[in-house]
Order: sequence, then structure tokens, then C-alpha cells
Amino acid sequence: MNYILMGPPGAGKGTQSKKIVEKFGIVHLSTGDMFREAKKSDEVISKLLASGQLVPDEIVVNMAKKRLEKDDVKKGFLLDGFPRTVNQAQELDKMLKSENMKIDAVFFIDVCFEEAVKRISGRRVCSCGASYHVDFIPPKVEGKCDGCNCELIQRNDDKENVVRDRLDVYEKQTRPLIDYYKSTGLLVNIDGLKSESEVFEDIKNAS
Ligand code: AP5
Repeated sequence: MNYILMGPPGAGKGTQSKKIVEKFGIVHLSTGDMFREAKKSDEVISKLLASGQLVPDEIVVNMAKKRLEKDDVKKGFLLDGFPRTVNQAQELDKMLKSENMKIDAVFFIDVCFEEAVKRISGRRVCSCGASYHVDFIPPKVEGKCDGCNCELIQRNDDKENVVRDRLDVYEKQTRPLIDYYKSTGLLVNIDGLKSESEVFEDIKNAS
């Protein structure tokens, strides 16, 4: 199965992605993760991420294209954070057509602005990929990863002023995608205000 997971920053896309790929045995393709890796050696990407702006479509589309040409995606994939503009969605459609692939569902995790800010400002991450929330999903020992005991940190773009810019970018550039996928009949609305496990149940039931 091939899925797209969309929703505003902090909706819970990364959290649900881990569960979905494990349940369905499919590949997780997160453009956010790819750019966080790329920013270590690319100053332009690093500045864009730190300011909450989107990476230009051309760069994103080329990166996604290369990734979708790899063999492992044949067993199914979950796109997390891509596409993020209508232009990216149109380019994705072309890519899939040329590879003879299709999307089975687009899960849209919906949360309000206030909840997104609350979730992002409390998020703490580990270099091993684990993610926590200081109030909602706390680690067993404060500031330490349950899995590897490393120090948890706050993402650069999780500072409150950047979060508001990210939400603004989302409203202007990504929200129009909801109508784009509604018109294809693929869009599934998921109430992201429910608990982590309830959200996952709803996604499973709709897949
Ligand atoms: P990306 O990494 O995709 O960031 P995002 O979309 O802003 O999403 P987040 O990672 O902030 O949130 P999430 O929805 O994954 O929530 P999470 O599960 O962590 O992109 C980063 C940047 O890369 C972009 O700003 C852009 O610059 C660039 N980029 C990426 N893709 C691009 C593209 N296609 N085009 C152009 N640029 C691109 O959860 C958040 C918190 O809430 C956590 O603490 C979690 O523990 C907690 N939580 C989760 N679920 C629940 C729940 N149900 N109840 C309570 N707490 C919960």
C-alpha cells in the first residue's frame, strides 16, 4: 500500500508514521528527516529549516524522485511531509505515473493552531530518532532517551517564534492540498486531537 500522511506541523505525523510503517511493513519517506540530515552539510537548507520556510519545490521534487526510484519502495511506502505544495503534488502524480504506481489513501491529521503550538513547544528529540513530549509523552527519566539514555534536545525550528512562521507557511502553501486530494477522493480526515493510540486506530480502520 502507498500512503500520504499530511497535517500541520505538530499534528503527529512523525509519531504515527513509526506505527504505520511497522504495522504495514512499508517504507517511511520523511522529507523533514531527509532535510535534517542534509542541513548538516548544506548551509542553505540549514537556514531555510531554521527559519521555518519551505525548501524550494525543485530541490524537494528531485530528492523525492531519486528516493522513489529505489527498489525498496516497491513493497509500499508512506510519504510523510511530502507533498507540501500543489506543485509538488502535481509533480508526484507525474512521478508515480511514470513508475506505474498509485496512492491508496491520503490521511490528513487535523489539529488546531493552539494544539500544534503546545505539542511542538513541548517536543524533545533524541539523535536516535525517538521523540517525546514533556507533558503528553514524557521519557521515563527527564531529559534522557528511554532507548539509548542520550540527552534529549529541542529542534532548532521548535522555538516558539519559528513555530508560528511554520504554521503560517502551512496555512498559505500546504492547506490548499486538502482540496487537491479531496477532489481525487483519496482524502481521509483523521481527528488529531485524540490520543496517540486512538489516532492510530482511526488510521488503521480507514486503511
Ligand atoms: P517536517 O519534519 O516534516 O516538520 P513538520 O511538518 O513541521 O512536522 P513536525 O515534525 O513538526 O510535526 P509532526 O506532525 O511530525 O508531529 P510529531 O509526531 O513530531 O519538516 C521540517 C522542515 O523541513 C519544514 O519546515 C521545511 O523547511 C522542510 N521540508 C520538509 N518537507 C518539505 C517539503 N515537502 N517541501 C518543502 N520543505 C520541506 O508530534 C509533535 C509532538 O506532539 C511530539 O512531541 C509528540 O510526542 C506529540 N504528539 C504526537 N501525537 C500526539 C497526540 N495524539 N497527543 C498528544 N501529543 C502528541
